Amino acid sequence: MSLGLETGGTSEIALRGRRLRRSAALRGLVRETRLHPEMLVQPIFIQAGLAGREPIGAMPGQDRLGLAALPEEAARLRAAGVRSVLLFGLPSSKDAIGSGAWAPDGVVQEAIRVLRSADTELVMIADVCLCEYTSHGHCGVLAGNGEDATVDNDRSLELLARIAVSLADAGADLVAPSAMMDGQVAAIRAALDEAGRRETAILAYAAKHASAFYGPFREAADSAPAFGDRRSYQMDPANGREARREIDADLAEGADMIMIKPALPSLDLVAAARARTDVPIAAYQVSGEYAAICAAAANGWLDRRAVALESLLAIARAGADIIVTYFAAEVAGWLRDEAPR
Ligand code: PBG
Repeated sequence: MSLGLETGGTSEIALRGRRLRRSAALRGLVRETRLHPEMLVQPIFIQAGLAGREPIGAMPGQDRLGLAALPEEAARLRAAGVRSVLLFGLPSSKDAIGSGAWAPDGVVQEAIRVLRSADTELVMIADVCLCEYTSHGHCGVLAGNGEDATVDNDRSLELLARIAVSLADAGADLVAPSAMMDGQVAAIRAALDEAGRRETAILAYAAKHASAFYGPFREAADSAPAFGDRRSYQMDPANGREARREIDADLAEGADMIMIKPALPSLDLVAAARARTDVPIAAYQVSGEYAAICAAAANGWLDRRAVALESLLAIARAGADIIVTYFAAEVAGWLRDEAPR
């Protein structure tokens, strides 16, 4: 049966839309939003001391990588057409202040050097946070003890700035502060400039909710807080106006690009950001968004490919120029081989 224009009784108004949907080529002609491998960023977890790769339980298809596995990963991404990565590290040891994060021979610093020699053009975005490096798992350093401990914003700023400079020295193209400390963008910009790293750009996690969708990441990065939660420094998911203020603040502090996360639960904020600024906007389809699609697909409840593509398309349609997603390499491969539909 044809579902084309000859359907009897269709109104003139309905026909207006349908005339332009009659064939794959017509739909392609009028399509407003398109995904391209170059707009996708693949997150990578690098684990110190790991030989080869180790699968991440709650994120099927994603592995933690040892340094020696990175050249092969760079080649795989390049073949798929993905040109950018977001780097997270699992250090060999942790302490109260997260000093592994700014060690010149830290795991991400080493990874940047390995990746740079594997692919000189790869865009490397380095996460700037303390939670993977602190023994307590919080994104900043603590003041006080036990039940009364709080995250010390201003002391944390100094450490985040040190991390950013050390990642820039290692060769990161962009640093991406995700700790949600107030003033982190300004502190990092000032430190980078003082260190002669004026060319290193800042991708600011401007609106980052205290989201339950980060669960699988905390397993992957071994970064769950040992006590308490992140609700004092990450934003309340109920707040949209506050998110818009955070975006404005990061832009005023000198962010070159801004990021919104999680992505699908925050499409209103992606659209609001688009209306507010002309700097590039990134959205992060986080670990829980990925895991949910994987789990439903593994049960035969959702079509993995169709849902992955539709979710990324929705994020782009809302206004994101750049999408950080664990599907990056997989989707890029599909886009490369895809016929119009
Ligand atoms: C924190 C950080 C987190 C994510 C990115 N950076 C976790 C958190 O805030 O607890 C989550 C990303 C994801 O879930 O994929 N440095």
